[in-house]
Amino acid sequence: MRVDAPLAETIRFDVLTIFPELLDSPLKEGIIRRAQEAGQIGIVCHNIRDYALDKHAMTDDRPFGGGEGMVMKPEPLAAAVQAVQAMAPQPGRVILLSPQGRPYTQAVAEELSGYARLLLVCGRYEGVDERFIAQYVDEEISIGDYILTGGELAAMILIDSIARLRPGVLGCADSAGYDTFSRGGLKFPQYTRPRLFEGLAAPEVLFSGNHAEVAEWRFIASVERTMRKRPDLVVGLRFSPNELKILQRQGLLAKLRESGWKSQSEN
Ligand SMILES: C[S@@+](CC[C@H](N)C(=O)[O-])C[C@H]1O[C@@H](n2cnc3c(N)ncnc32)[C@H](O)[C@@H]1O
Repeated sequence: MRVDAPLAETIRFDVLTIFPELLDSPLKEGIIRRAQEAGQIGIVCHNIRDYALDKHAMTDDRPFGGGEGMVMKPEPLAAAVQAVQAMAPQPGRVILLSPQGRPYTQAVAEELSGYARLLLVCGRYEGVDERFIAQYVDEEISIGDYILTGGELAAMILIDSIARLRPGVLGCADSAGYDTFSRGGLKFPQYTRPRLFEGLAAPEVLFSGNHAEVAEWRFIASVERTMRKRPDLVVGLRFSPNELKILQRQGLLAKLRESGWKSQSEN
């Protein structure tokens, strides 16, 4: 499916791994479990060993040229991708989890949430034979500049972050729209009962019952904390004309400009 096409009713994740049990528990809890039960997402784990060609079900071998560790053999991976693709009418986008891939962000999660089917291939050891990547992988994705022992946790991170963007998966339809990163900056601070905790009072405005005042306070708090905690995100902030007026009135526009922010017309 193209990402600009209408959203399919469900998204199907196929995870290809030599340790399928690793994903058992996270897939059986909370929102991800409920979304599967409701048919909003589908997740199928496949053991790459089932596609190994030799009698010992070998999925790895020593690297050509010598050196440390083992490399995942291309044939079991290729056979697994081919077989898994054939299990559903629509072929999926093949993603290899890899520290050398495109850095994963909320924007990438949003992009991938538009696909009807994703095949997530989990590497192990020193990684996978380069020829498998050349022939079968549409894209490599990295969850950060550090090295994991395998791609399973990274695959789980993709599933979790993509699933919650799908229609109906979150209990409250609006909540993803105000999340940190969804509009470029950080979400406003949140408070719940008790009103006074260890001498610290929750902000008075939140009890005013005035929705417009609460919304403005939250907007300003969100901009201020983005400037303080993640100044690197400031340049990417985008504001509506009304928000710009609020920022001007609160004296924040000048501070934003000092931090490198420019309006869209200046960009
Ligand atoms: C030990 S790593 C291999 C690292 C490889 N030797 C290198 O230096 O690029 C084994 C597997 O874990 C997964 N992995 C490790 N770090 C990752 C990351 N930051 N993002 C996504 N997957 C990762 C990949 O599937 C990788 O093939």
